[in-house]
Amino acid sequence: MKTRGWRTVAGWSLASTAALVAGCGDDSPSALDPSGPSASRVAGLWWLMLVLATLVAVAVLGFIGVALVRGRGTEGGRPSRITDNGFILVGGIAVPVVILAVLAVATVVVTNDITDEADDPLIVEVTGERWWWRVGYPEQEIDTANELHVPVGRPVEVRLESDNVVHSFWIPQLAPKVDLIPGQPNRIIFTASAAGTYRGQCAEFCGIQHANMNFVVVADEPADFDRWVEDHRSEPATARGESEFRSSACAGCHTVEGVTTGDRGPDLTDFGSRQTIAAGALPNTPENLRRWITDPHSVKPGSLMPPVPLTDDEVDAIVDYLDGGR
Ligand code: CUA
Repeated sequence: MKTRGWRTVAGWSLASTAALVAGCGDDSPSALDPSGPSASRVAGLWWLMLVLATLVAVAVLGFIGVALVRGRGTEGGRPSRITDNGFILVGGIAVPVVILAVLAVATVVVTNDITDEADDPLIVEVTGERWWWRVGYPEQEIDTANELHVPVGRPVEVRLESDNVVHSFWIPQLAPKVDLIPGQPNRIIFTASAAGTYRGQCAEFCGIQHANMNFVVVADEPADFDRWVEDHRSEPATARGESEFRSSACAGCHTVEGVTTGDRGPDLTDFGSRQTIAAGALPNTPENLRRWITDPHSVKPGSLMPPVPLTDDEVDAIVDYLDGGR
């Protein structure tokens, strides 16, 4: 019976380890796979901590092994008293103080370096909403949501705010997490060193849909970034479905530049170019968009987006309009 208990424990441990490792697939952004100077410095700190923690673990396990083998010993028929105060002073106080001091200095130095002023940064304003990201580029006069485009090689200064609860902005491969705290503007500076799509995630529990508060950062070559800015700012041609969108309840909450001016939900200008719907809850396909519009709470329970009363034809027209006829 006892052996079976241990086998069950071992089985579960193996299974959960396998599940953890499987979670680290290609799709999962890792802070140990940095793609910019800020994230590289943070990864360096992680490795320093791992090395120190390993040394401590090996030393402690070694002492436990020695104690097990040697036993406590006796003095005049009684268990001997512990009298080696020097060992406790060195191993229990001096060594931990040195290790923690090294980590504290390294952390402060790295934090200072990666929050230093940058030359000519691209300014992006990010506001944490429940449960999505409002994104603005004040110089380029672009408003969007849940997807940042940044040029490779240019520092990006993200100004972070929230007017509701605390969120945390984290792009593991590009920058450490920074909280968005109501009444306390924060910022983070990072540079992407390679073109690509980087996953970001809200890293502070912020309510029922915290887990579905994702975003992506698309690092473009500078020419591609300029093209994205141009595409975004160009006046949209009147498209099929525009009048349905304009006269639906959607218009009350969502802006499409030059068409509607709602402000409660994400700006939907150029929505068709985005990779996901509802802050990463679903890939952006016409079928998923239809499901999101007709039954948002089946996708994201607790979302502030209400189901919109529309006929099938109206939904078709609006899906067509938003996804740009994809
Ligand atoms: Cu926003 Cu968690």
